[in-house]
Amino acid sequence: MAAIEYALINIAEAGNNIVSTPQLYGATYTLLAHIFPKRGIESRFAVSDRPEDIEKLIDENTRAVYCESVGNPAGNVADIEGLARVAHKHGVPLVVDNTVATPILLRPIEYGADVVVHSMTKFIGGGGTSIGGMIVDGGKFPWRKYSKKFYMLNVPEVAYHGVVYVDHYGEAAFVARCRTVCQRNTGATLSPFNGFLFLQGIQTMALRVERHVENARKVAEFLRAHPMVDWVNYAGFPDSPLYPMAHRYLGNNFCSLLTFGVKGGYEGGRKCFNAFRLFKRMVNMGDAKSLSCHPASTTHRQLTPEEQQKVGVTPEMIRLSVGIEHIDDILADLDQALEKAKSGVEEPVAANSKGV
Ligand SMILES: Cc1ncc(COP(=O)(O)O)c(C=O)c1O
Repeated sequence: MAAIEYALINIAEAGNNIVSTPQLYGATYTLLAHIFPKRGIESRFAVSDRPEDIEKLIDENTRAVYCESVGNPAGNVADIEGLARVAHKHGVPLVVDNTVATPILLRPIEYGADVVVHSMTKFIGGGGTSIGGMIVDGGKFPWRKYSKKFYMLNVPEVAYHGVVYVDHYGEAAFVARCRTVCQRNTGATLSPFNGFLFLQGIQTMALRVERHVENARKVAEFLRAHPMVDWVNYAGFPDSPLYPMAHRYLGNNFCSLLTFGVKGGYEGGRKCFNAFRLFKRMVNMGDAKSLSCHPASTTHRQLTPEEQQKVGVTPEMIRLSVGIEHIDDILADLDQALEKAKSGVEEPVAANSKGV
């Protein structure tokens, strides 16, 4: 979250606005919708992630267009090329959260994004051992051309011995200011040990992501055929409304974050969720182990029902982050949990929270 905050406050101040796609991770939505406005930065959420809807909200006070390349938990894949085009037309950068897709499946800068942020807590770490973030500066945005809007990169910086970022750091102007002004003076710094754990994680990320992708497809197909499942939101189904954009940006490697609805609405979903044994009930995602969560009561709990709906969360929805265990074990767990949802036999929650 610090990476997201720094990437945005680096260039947006009181009186400015950020234009965002509506499908966001819960805390990002809260940061934009409730925290930034108290500092005078307005957040404008488009009605959809389509470039034309985003463009309608951009004005002379806009300082960035923001999106998640793959929305968490909505699963929508943003049209990065289209969003970059409208952002650039209005002289502002496109900032993309690429946490769900990972750099293995998608590299937004190759499609015109200017700044990419990652929560490393997920696939990059891979073990759920550390919390950390990353800002990647594409180095191509013409900060100098828009020197009035982005004056902070073009005039001597009082917070850092009068350096003019575009002169001193050139292509790294944006990220250098993030580090020397935003991070240095507010302190979200990774400990060396967590840095070590992330570096360990990065070594196996490519291999893990391959298996995540393969298992997720099998899980999606299994769920779709299951009589206790109402719907499955998986971008890899050709009949999914998410498919065209997902296929364009991800090829045939669809993400391992998917959502589904258990028959029986909220109660059905809750019973299934409580019955998971192999799937850990945890709000993280991207671990090597399979994880599940009920966004309405966890990650998105702070949002009102209307806000939940806006960001793509429904009450019966279960979100899965499909891990890299053997697929037979994953499917067996889903099957027994769905069976319990059907029979109505409830597991005592405490038994599962021990991680058994
Ligand atoms: C898409 C996305 N971005 C950012 C974050 C925030 O990450 P962190 O918990 O590492 O601050 C999350 C966390 O779930 C996320 O899903």
